[in-house]
Amino acid sequence: MQRADESAAVALRPYIKAHYHFQFLSAAFRFGLFEILEKDPGLTVKDIALRLELNEQPTRILLLGCTATGLLHKDGDGYHNTALTRPLAENLDQAPAAYIPWESQGIYRAISWFAEALDEDSNVGLQREIPGTAPTLYGRLAENPELESAFHTMMGSVSQLVAEEIVEKVDLSGHRHLLDVGGGTAVNAANLARKWPHLRITIGDLPSIAALAEEKIADMGLADRVDAVSLDAFHDEFPSGPDAVLFAHFLEIWSADRIRDLLARASRQLPSGGGLFVVTPYQNDDETGPERSAYLSAYFHTIASGEGMVYTPKEYEQWFTEAGFAPTRRVLLGPDAVVICGRKL
Ligand SMILES: C[S@@+](CC[C@H](N)C(=O)[O-])C[C@H]1O[C@@H](n2cnc3c(N)ncnc32)[C@H](O)[C@@H]1O
Repeated sequence: MQRADESAAVALRPYIKAHYHFQFLSAAFRFGLFEILEKDPGLTVKDIALRLELNEQPTRILLLGCTATGLLHKDGDGYHNTALTRPLAENLDQAPAAYIPWESQGIYRAISWFAEALDEDSNVGLQREIPGTAPTLYGRLAENPELESAFHTMMGSVSQLVAEEIVEKVDLSGHRHLLDVGGGTAVNAANLARKWPHLRITIGDLPSIAALAEEKIADMGLADRVDAVSLDAFHDEFPSGPDAVLFAHFLEIWSADRIRDLLARASRQLPSGGGLFVVTPYQNDDETGPERSAYLSAYFHTIASGEGMVYTPKEYEQWFTEAGFAPTRRVLLGPDAVVICGRKL
């Protein structure tokens, strides 16, 4: 009995101590330690304290945390990056580095309200930790420019990974004008426009993001075929004209009732035969995972909207049918995302 308890205690340790692991990682990243060690491997405690402008004892504590958890390797008196931290020394605006400032500034404190958010069935983490008055994260980001920038860097890096696969796997040859609802800063639109030279794309997003998207589109030289319009997807009718609608990383933010409303709005504007594409992380139809669907569901509920979660493809297909679309295909993107495709009847 005692041995079983001990092994459970060991197996539970990563759950119980996860916050320390994250703090070692995010503090070292914030101080630029991984970049410094990539340029100058083998620095000692004293060298590192000088470079980080920290006192020696705090530096020892940081280095002990990083070494004990496998982020750094100590050889004699010198410290080195490991295979885990080498990717955090470059391309800081791409995954995995781009996740760290967002998790640290946007999520870490707010997700500690998870139990209260379940209890109150609302996004208590946002209300307690993110300054501002808007009811969702996206409205509050506009009130916190530094956080908004960390969010869009993280989101851009996720979208970039997914966009490369969308472009490879989703056939838009039969459509002439795509409406990208909640299209953000044009990562998907830019990739799709480059792949399909015949295609026009309109991004619809909240005003501050639509303005940002317009700038990026102009910088990329795509303004002749891609534009961005201010759209509050819940209050404005979708623009008419497009013969396909894309919701990428958008529907899972919202409740089932709101998703039904958004799909009905798409259905009202699309002609018969029009395309519907939902890019989303997914939960297995048997509701057992994958892990990322669990993290994201907790994030949507506690912080982002207080109402969304990662749903199963089966649920989306049911909502498609209710809104007058025939589900046509599921295209898997990596281990935990999917494009659910449909056609307006
Ligand atoms: C998770 S991001 C996804 C961005 C992009 N589609 C992608 O795949 O990278 C969600 C986007 O929805 C936008 N959004 C939030 N509420 C919205 C609303 N009511 N109407 C339109 N867009 C909204 C946000 O500004 C943000 O750009």
